[in-house]
Amino acid sequence: MFLEIEHLTMRFGGVVAVNDVSMSIQRGEIHGLIGPNGSGKTTIFNVVSGYYKATGGKVSLEGKPVTGLAAHQITALGFARTFQNLRLFTSMTVLDNVRVAMGQHARAGVWGEILNTRAVQREEKHFTDRALELLRLLNIAEYAHERATNLPYGHQRRVEIARALATDPKIVLLDEPAAGLNEVETTQLRETLLKIRDSGITIFLVEHDMKLVMGVCEQITVLDYGKKIAEGPSAQVSRDPVVIEAYLGKEEDL
Ligand SMILES: Nc1ncnc2c1ncn2[C@@H]1O[C@H](COP(=O)(O)OP(=O)(O)OP(=O)(O)O)[C@@H](O)[C@H]1O
Ligand SMILES: [Mg+2]
Repeated sequence: MFLEIEHLTMRFGGVVAVNDVSMSIQRGEIHGLIGPNGSGKTTIFNVVSGYYKATGGKVSLEGKPVTGLAAHQITALGFARTFQNLRLFTSMTVLDNVRVAMGQHARAGVWGEILNTRAVQREEKHFTDRALELLRLLNIAEYAHERATNLPYGHQRRVEIARALATDPKIVLLDEPAAGLNEVETTQLRETLLKIRDSGITIFLVEHDMKLVMGVCEQITVLDYGKKIAEGPSAQVSRDPVVIEAYLGKEEDL
């Protein structure tokens, strides 16, 4: 299995945010993670990406252990993520926001930087070209030289996805990418997710927009109060009485 999560538990004092969750994701799929507010979705992302140390259980990617590694080591293994709230560099251009995210891949080293060697110049050009390619993928290349925070909100969210892809991940964890988007923007996001998937990147998607989730995800895992309550192909999950009950109980639509 590509991504394997086994008996993952995360406790905060008395709160069991994630309670013995096991699930797996196949390479190349778009896998949805849904559940009512506070059900543990973001916490799973925080543990998988190394922001929190799990209370129990383990995570592995392509058979390699992920649990216990530092966040930058997890990035090096091939993980990237976006956050539920935007985290862009406000004073930088769109292009620079994406280029700095590539920083950790720099090879020329400190002396190369200081002497501004040919190797550095080549590397800079490579970063710029790759960043522009990502901006084109997300349909925001025309804003490359604008300050990121001058863009409409929906476009800023795309910059954030471009930043995540800048590290050339094998899998990207997207936390509510459709939040705050209008219907047109959500449809565009759907196309973008499919393009990302088709480029060979596996997508782990937390999202409240059920139309989007049902439209793009091959498989869905459902959480409620930190526990996994259902899992399967989207058509099956959307009809599952246990899932409907979990949402209705909290007066949310599925
Ligand atoms: N750092 C933390 N310290 C204490 N409690 C936390 C922390 N992070 C999350 N929690 C708690 O863990 C539970 C799960 O929260 P989490 O943010 O994972 O939910 P979520 O499914 O992402 O919800 P939402 O859909 O609202 O984003 C909640 O009860 C939350 O209050
Ligand atoms: Mg969340």
